[in-house]
Amino acid sequence: MKLLRLRKKQRLVFLLCVWCLVVDLNKAETEESEGGPMEKTEQTALYSTIQGFVGDSWNGSYLYPDPCGWTPIQGVTCDMYDDHWYVTALSFGTVKDNSFDCAEVPVIRPQLFELKHLKSLSFYSCFTTPNRYLASISDEKWLDLSKSLERLEIRSNLGLIGELPSVITNLTNLQSLVVLENQLTGPLPENLAKLTRLRRLVLSGNKFTGRIPEVYGLTKLLILDLSRNLLSGPLPLSIGGLGSLLKLDLSNNYLERKLPRELQSLKNLTLLDLRNNRFSGGLTKEIQEMSSLVELVLSNNRLTGDLTGIEWRHLKNLVVLDLSNTGLTGEIPSSVLELKKLRFLGLSNNSLGGKLIPQMETEMPSLSALYVNGNNITGELEFSRKFYERMGRRLGVWGNPNLCYNGDEIKNLSDHVPFGVNQCKSVKADKY
Ligand SMILES: *[C@@H]1O[C@H](CO)[C@@H](O)[C@H](O)[C@H]1NC(C)=O
Ligand SMILES: *[C@@H]1O[C@H](CO)[C@@H](O)[C@H](O)[C@H]1NC(C)=O
Ligand SMILES: *[C@@H]1O[C@H](CO)[C@@H](O)[C@H](O)[C@H]1NC(C)=O
Ligand SMILES: *[C@@H]1O[C@H](CO)[C@@H](O)[C@H](O)[C@H]1NC(C)=O
Ligand SMILES: *[C@@H]1O[C@H](CO)[C@@H](O)[C@H](O)[C@H]1NC(C)=O
Ligand SMILES: *[C@@H]1O[C@H](CO)[C@@H](O)[C@H](O)[C@H]1NC(C)=O
Repeated sequence: MKLLRLRKKQRLVFLLCVWCLVVDLNKAETEESEGGPMEKTEQTALYSTIQGFVGDSWNGSYLYPDPCGWTPIQGVTCDMYDDHWYVTALSFGTVKDNSFDCAEVPVIRPQLFELKHLKSLSFYSCFTTPNRYLASISDEKWLDLSKSLERLEIRSNLGLIGELPSVITNLTNLQSLVVLENQLTGPLPENLAKLTRLRRLVLSGNKFTGRIPEVYGLTKLLILDLSRNLLSGPLPLSIGGLGSLLKLDLSNNYLERKLPRELQSLKNLTLLDLRNNRFSGGLTKEIQEMSSLVELVLSNNRLTGDLTGIEWRHLKNLVVLDLSNTGLTGEIPSSVLELKKLRFLGLSNNSLGGKLIPQMETEMPSLSALYVNGNNITGELEFSRKFYERMGRRLGVWGNPNLCYNGDEIKNLSDHVPFGVNQCKSVKADKY
């Protein structure tokens, strides 16, 4: 495997030196260059592919006469098969130091699909003028890559419009499909679940619409990120079959209905982010079975219901729990004290009443941000000075009209008076 990180000038110098060296060597031992040869067809296909991206003036055979040997090309990785060099990875755009800058109007040439050992293909910030590049490639061409391609990454191409071609789901060797921050529209391919080797599926930051297709069979999937699209409808029940999943991010869509009980099967899930959607129907009790959860973020949904249905002690690993603006009612149950690792508790902008449990100070030792602003928490805040010091501005208690603090406790610490809350009127003061 070769991956060289030389800039243009350095490369020229390097090339000259290597040239001298090789001329010298050739005198001694003819034909013994490092590695083996490259088929002419493979070499021509590579040159032509690159030229399509960087521009016609680029002369590969002149600049890089031995692209997998002694004149390696930035962004191109080669490997040996049957004593011949083949291209295994191609990376366009400026994601790394060592890849090509794309021309203003890059072209995907058909020769790209002749690279029969291509495992990894990446376009970063390459297509900037609006075009349907992906959709314009014929199915047959895509299929030419189906035996070899394991990683496809199409990222930050703001000119990339049109749909994600459904033939992508015939690239059944894919382990990583990342289509991130482009301008793709239309529905997600219905047959996504055919990509059973996938470990990472990231389609976020586009304008995909419609439902999330069924995901039966993606048992190796570790990361599923469809966030920041225009997806709607319910979660597919087949989501429960993603038993290996570690991260599930579907935030910032228009997803709706109840959180399915099937989520309980995601025993290894550490992140569940469903914020900014339209989920409803309360906190499904089964979410307590996702015992590996570290971050549970459901803010800005229409969940409603209360916090008492969940046995929080099952979610011992939780560090972040954000249920802000979800229409919650009732009180904050003392069972949340079981969340010993919790650092962030967001319950802002709900309709929670009752008192704030003073034991949060002592029994939740990691707690460093607590937001209950915009509720109807009542009575006196019974925390110690130390707690106000520890939390500072990360204690959000404003917007609770019937809440007050005990002034005796913190009277000489004006910086730490909880913002937006009045001092309790002492009983004595009331009498006068
Ligand atoms: C590219 O370089 C080769 C070798 O120097 C030369 O023969 C060929 O004419 C050049 N092609 C173009 C299009 O300039
Ligand atoms: C993709 O695979 C499906 C079977 O899963 C097949 O019906 C379809 O013809 C394939 N597409 C192409 C372009 O070959
Ligand atoms: C869950 O994680 C454990 C520990 O890393 C691993 O042994 C197990 O295979 C995982 N379960 C699934 C279904 O991937
Ligand atoms: C709570 O509501 C206020 C006022 O509508 C808004 O400014 C704030 O961003 C909201 N906070 C959260 C966490 O939803
Ligand atoms: C807030 O709580 C107080 C005390 O429980 C109650 O009297 C009042 O009606 C509540 N206000 C709202 C807007 O729910
Ligand atoms: C502030 O009050 C605490 C006890 O309420 C006391 O221990 C501390 O010395 C006081 N600090 C100052 C600067 O007055």
